[in-house]
Amino acid sequence: MRIDVLTLFPQMFESPLSHSILKRAQEMSLVEIALTDIRDFAADSYRKIDDKPYGGGPGMVMMPGPVFDCFEHVQKLSPEKGRGILLTPQGQRFDQAKAVELSKEKRLILIAGKYEGFDERIRIGLGAEQISIGDYVLNGGELAAMVIIDAIVRLLPGALGDEDSAKDDSFSDGLLEYPQYTRPEVFRDMKVPDILLSGDHAKIAQWRKQQALERTKKWRPDLLKDSDKK
Ligand code: ADE
Repeated sequence: MRIDVLTLFPQMFESPLSHSILKRAQEMSLVEIALTDIRDFAADSYRKIDDKPYGGGPGMVMMPGPVFDCFEHVQKLSPEKGRGILLTPQGQRFDQAKAVELSKEKRLILIAGKYEGFDERIRIGLGAEQISIGDYVLNGGELAAMVIIDAIVRLLPGALGDEDSAKDDSFSDGLLEYPQYTRPEVFRDMKVPDILLSGDHAKIAQWRKQQALERTKKWRPDLLKDSDKK
């Protein structure tokens, strides 16, 4: 998989991409992540990429020219056309189902904007789908792009040491994850449930399923309502 990110702050990605699973997935060539600075496509020597909104109002709006030029340049870097995604609080809410869907693509082109927003012609003209990572406003799309990359890359076959780990994650079956325990058997008077020490794998699987269901009912009943609707 190839992921391109168009951003005004490529340095923001350095640390998250150079640790843990994201680092290893790139080393294993499961994913290639390329960062391109939108500012390199500014038309003037001041590297201006935003301007005041027509009609007035606070803040600055990203101009269409640099984003279009950057996108078209990036698209040509690889033969695969790629799925364009604009990070914006106005987008469709990102969730695990979307992560699974996107993890099957050969190429994604993520566009992270800064400041108050994008000129509307960027959305219309690029035909990119809009994704939001939640109902709150970030200072820019960079952190949202990192969240999406993180959630997708761990789903790529071979990214996690243990192939089964992603399957058991919260949300992978529409439920929260069952409780996990490791050593010691007793910690500050809290004991590991006997069933997990029983060695009876069928009973353990049944217990975990029931626990997952119970905690979903208690903590995230909206997830059960969502699955009813499907
Ligand atoms: N840019 C600013 N806020 C955002 C959000 N919630 N999701 C995606 N991109 C954003």
